[in-house]
Amino acid sequence: MQRNFPTINHFRSFLHLPKISFNRRAKRLKKALTIWDLRSLAKRRTPRGPFDYVDGSAESEASLSRARYGFSSIEFHPSVLRDVSTASTVTTSLDHTFDLPFGFAPTGFTRMMHSAGEVAVAQVAAQFNIPYVLSTLGTTSIEDVVSGAPKGTNWFQLYMLKDMARNLETIDRAKAVGVDTLVLTVDVPVSGLRLRDARNGLTIPPSLTFRSLIDFAKKPRWLADYLTTPPLEFAAMSSWNGTVAEMLDTLFNPSVTFEDLEWIRERWGGSLVIKGIQNAQDARRCVDQGVDAVILSNHGGRQLDRAVTPLSQLRSVVEEIDGKAEVHIDTGITHGGDIAAALALGADFVWVGRSYLYGLMAGGQDGVTRAVEILTQELVRTMKLLGVTSIAELDTRHIKMLHSD
Ligand SMILES: Cc1cc2nc3c(=O)[nH]c(=O)nc-3n(C[C@H](O)[C@H](O)[C@H](O)COP(=O)(O)O)c2cc1C
Repeated sequence: MQRNFPTINHFRSFLHLPKISFNRRAKRLKKALTIWDLRSLAKRRTPRGPFDYVDGSAESEASLSRARYGFSSIEFHPSVLRDVSTASTVTTSLDHTFDLPFGFAPTGFTRMMHSAGEVAVAQVAAQFNIPYVLSTLGTTSIEDVVSGAPKGTNWFQLYMLKDMARNLETIDRAKAVGVDTLVLTVDVPVSGLRLRDARNGLTIPPSLTFRSLIDFAKKPRWLADYLTTPPLEFAAMSSWNGTVAEMLDTLFNPSVTFEDLEWIRERWGGSLVIKGIQNAQDARRCVDQGVDAVILSNHGGRQLDRAVTPLSQLRSVVEEIDGKAEVHIDTGITHGGDIAAALALGADFVWVGRSYLYGLMAGGQDGVTRAVEILTQELVRTMKLLGVTSIAELDTRHIKMLHSD
């Protein structure tokens, strides 16, 4: 074979010098190609207590790992020779049109993960035209979230507290700022046992103890951010020096029943969603009580250990409800393909929790943006490879469950 000395042009086309960027955060986030990459970044940048609070779940953590396994063990059945040059992810839910079929589930204490907190998450949701649900245990008031993201679809999640006056006040405050959808979470009659939090001695807000000192010292950026931004305050209390589980058990009302849905619906007057449904019978009872949507969820595996996975219940709930209300789902979703799978099995809408929190911990508001970009790219790619160009086209012929629990 004859060899030549490389020409300048040949060498130039081979040499690929990366563009020099001085924005280290943007560079770091761009390199994250999956939600799991964001998780790794998050772990490097966040003290163990807050990171484990997000990452962990109850007891053996089987509820979460099984939910994730359920999504990883579905099988897609693509159709080919369709024109998939464009695909639309637009969808409607509860009288809103969203640009994507997923939203940000409520998560407590968000400013503990990153000082940008709930407002940053709500702003990203507004930017992508997806809904954000502020938790009762949020560390920013509903008024501040709505004024921080006035163009967004901001919904509110209610935990029923023992203090009835506070429940009523919370409902009225959400209504007063124009929130149109209330999400009532019903799977926390008592707190699940989150062993990581107990072992880390996590208090809310986090406190500096001998044990946590080294942990915080290893994440000076998080610590500086935490100490130089307004202290964590909650709607329900000013601070708590016990574990999160003790706090939930002291504040939450374990005697709420289906009968309560009636007065809550009347007091609220807008759309009512029940979150934490785990079987078709309970879903049916909610719908008979007039709710607008149920969210099939085991709370990200943070409550009952070894709980049934929402994905395995999806078909039976969709069949039972038969279009009389919307069926949403969460828990274990870390990939746009998971979202496509849930929609193909009949879910009307999908929620993610940790996926955006990993982004938040990895890079504040830009990290949440990156999480949405990743999920969206994965979703669109999955749709196109399945041969569909709209959310409505995703259906059961595209999917088979290889294992059902
Ligand atoms: C750190 C964290 C805090 C949460 N806080 C709440 C909450 O305050 N209210 C609520 O209804 N659900 C809460 N959840 C559950 C989420 O709304 C959602 O059901 C769950 O995160 C979905 O699972 P995924 O994280 O695998 O996406 C929380 C979840 C996490 C990870």
